[in-house]
Amino acid sequence: MRTYRHSLKSLRDIALAYSLEKNPDLASLSRELGAIVHRDAKALGDGLYDLRARNRGFERWLLGRRGRPGVSVLVMAWPPGYSSPSHDHAGLWGIELSLYGALEVESWSRATTNDPWQLRGRDWLGPGDATWFDTDPPYMHRCRNLSRQETALTLHVYGGDLDDYATYEQVEAEPYWLSLPQRARIAGPIRV
Ligand SMILES: [Fe+2]
Repeated sequence: MRTYRHSLKSLRDIALAYSLEKNPDLASLSRELGAIVHRDAKALGDGLYDLRARNRGFERWLLGRRGRPGVSVLVMAWPPGYSSPSHDHAGLWGIELSLYGALEVESWSRATTNDPWQLRGRDWLGPGDATWFDTDPPYMHRCRNLSRQETALTLHVYGGDLDDYATYEQVEAEPYWLSLPQRARIAGPIRV
């Protein structure tokens, strides 16, 4: 029988394999990851129950990483109704995919770091759905757990370690935003 650990291992291994290339095909990586989540959604939701029930606020868990070429694979827990600040990903490419529950993702991009952010759109991700971004153009998004009752879980693949990044606050003179440096905290490893 396939367990949630097998599923997590498959998700991690596919992400590590794809990211051996400098510019991985993020659309097909998202499709492959999404197919596994669709297939194993029930096992993943049940197997990761502890992460959903911890009640410790927003948390990042490390599922895997490699130094060169850089890649990190994380699972994040989103409390009911939790909304992240608008944030960038330190210029890394990335994929964010729902494992359990549904997220709203509002995205902005800009031609260069000197230009104002432009709203790119709003997406809704159910289990197996992904959003992704390349290293260029500069990109940021804000994500919100659409459920008021349940913690949502997401899978994240980044082209390196996302230790330092920035959040953005809208200042009065729209469309300019104030950027604030942040450090990403990891709650612990997920062993599979
Ligand atoms: Fe993000």
